[in-house]
Amino acid sequence: MPLFPQVMALCTYPNLLDSPSFPEDAKKRARRILQACGGNSLGSYSASQGVNCIREDVAAYITRRDGGVPADPDNIYLTTGASDGISTILKILVSGGGKSRTGVMIPIPQYPLYSAVISELDAIQVNYYLDEDNCWALNVNELRRAVQQAKSTVTPRCCASSTRNPTGLCFTSLPVSWGAGWLVYWMSGH
Ligand SMILES: Cc1ncc(COP(=O)(O)O)c(C=O)c1O
Repeated sequence: MPLFPQVMALCTYPNLLDSPSFPEDAKKRARRILQACGGNSLGSYSASQGVNCIREDVAAYITRRDGGVPADPDNIYLTTGASDGISTILKILVSGGGKSRTGVMIPIPQYPLYSAVISELDAIQVNYYLDEDNCWALNVNELRRAVQQAKSTVTPRCCASSTRNPTGLCFTSLPVSWGAGWLVYWMSGH
């Protein structure tokens, strides 16, 4: 059995910590997680944004991934999956009616969750098209076109999700921060 289900099994049924069938590595991880839970049990309430030691591990991973740029565990919110996280963020962002109704900018092609949640929340979908001839790259001129066009009918907001599904494109940090910077500039009235 791979490590992840082993740790899950140990956390959900801690009596297995005495079992010789589980490797010490998995037991060590499970004990650490259980110690961070109230009453040493996964059944207890955790901090709403997620168990502290798991957020610390996620922050350490992001810091390592981003070449040492520090990630703060207090800025990390654990959710039950990408869908839950995206839906929560969009619920926070979406508001208004008429011209102040929220338009949510999403890349096309998209993962269909985005259009579904936008429609469920009665927001407006604002498409920007990825550049197929350029390996589905993010094109800043296209972002600008989408913002400017949307601004005449809605208040555009951006849900930034660095995704390679379905295009296979993997953004490096540069085009993402570059595109996000321009978006903030244009949305603020330029
Ligand atoms: C871009 C994108 N968004 C959302 C999801 C949904 O993720 P989850 O199954 O964690 O809710 C996926 C799943 O593949 C995805 O690729």
